[in-house]
Amino acid sequence: MELLKEIEENLLKELNPKVKLVLETGRYIVASGGKRLRPLFTVLTCGMCGGDPQDAMPLGVGLEYIHVASLLHDDVVDGAETRRGKKSANLVFGNGVAVLTGDYMYAKSLHLFSTYGNIEMIRLVSQTVMDMAEGQVLEISKVGDIISEEEYFQIIDGKTAVLFGACFGVGGMKGGCQDWKKLYEAGLRMGRAFQLIDDALDYEGDPRKLGKPVGNDLREGKCTYPLISVLDKLDRDKVKKVLRGLSESEPLRKKVVELGGVEKTKEKAKEEIEKAKTLLGEFPDNDYKREILRLLDFVVERNI
Ligand code: FPP
Ligand code: MG
Repeated sequence: MELLKEIEENLLKELNPKVKLVLETGRYIVASGGKRLRPLFTVLTCGMCGGDPQDAMPLGVGLEYIHVASLLHDDVVDGAETRRGKKSANLVFGNGVAVLTGDYMYAKSLHLFSTYGNIEMIRLVSQTVMDMAEGQVLEISKVGDIISEEEYFQIIDGKTAVLFGACFGVGGMKGGCQDWKKLYEAGLRMGRAFQLIDDALDYEGDPRKLGKPVGNDLREGKCTYPLISVLDKLDRDKVKKVLRGLSESEPLRKKVVELGGVEKTKEKAKEEIEKAKTLLGEFPDNDYKREILRLLDFVVERNI
């Protein structure tokens, strides 16, 4: 698809730090791939609302830079060794360079917004990053604990959904839509679905396709939706032992799959996608919207 190719080109073109190591680290994480859903949703939403998708391109690129910055930081926080099937940037370049390149990419994003966006967008984007940081801290503070469904959604809204909300909101604003908050809500719902599927795949995905082994969340002491959805059929004390690293996680992972935790998570993701589609219902019907709807289906059907 033409739009995707342009996004790839712009992601590399806008990245122009003076210091070679920042360029190398930035290119490393950008070139490591990804589905580019954030910039795609940004430009398509702008088009759906009647704007020129090209006008939203630098803003979509900025939002992908925020995503990339958050991955650089997240891998340092998690002490990760792989990302997208390759060595993680912190492993290749060291923690310091990875964190600081993340800072660079985040600032670069706001710089793009100050040139191609407006104050309202900058307010939305900076609020989004505050929410992301809070979501991550909340997640860390709950490692090793059983959490409620409400706490789970608070965490995933922060770590994933708000950024998708911002993509839809920014795209809408650039397309001249007054009702962009409704688009933000649609993006938020879609982002929840995205993370729910991520959490389902962590229980039962194909490690070769995902570029990471299954069962990471349980091993890291993270209580996610597949586990929460079948908690009433499990012994809470035994679950706590696994989350605290005091007993092996693999038998619990298998048990959650057996009890239908993955199916329940996928169903929940479908519910969120349906809510997103309903919110989009009142926006103009055109090719851009049809492409957005196709991507929404991809989000819940994906195995990568
Ligand atoms: C991955 O979660 C983490 C995120 C998607 C968000 C990380 C957010 C921050 C570090 C705060 C925002 C910071 C900036 C600079 C914008 P995961 O560890 O569950 O998933 P993984 O398997 O992909 O690592
Ligand atoms: Mg991580």
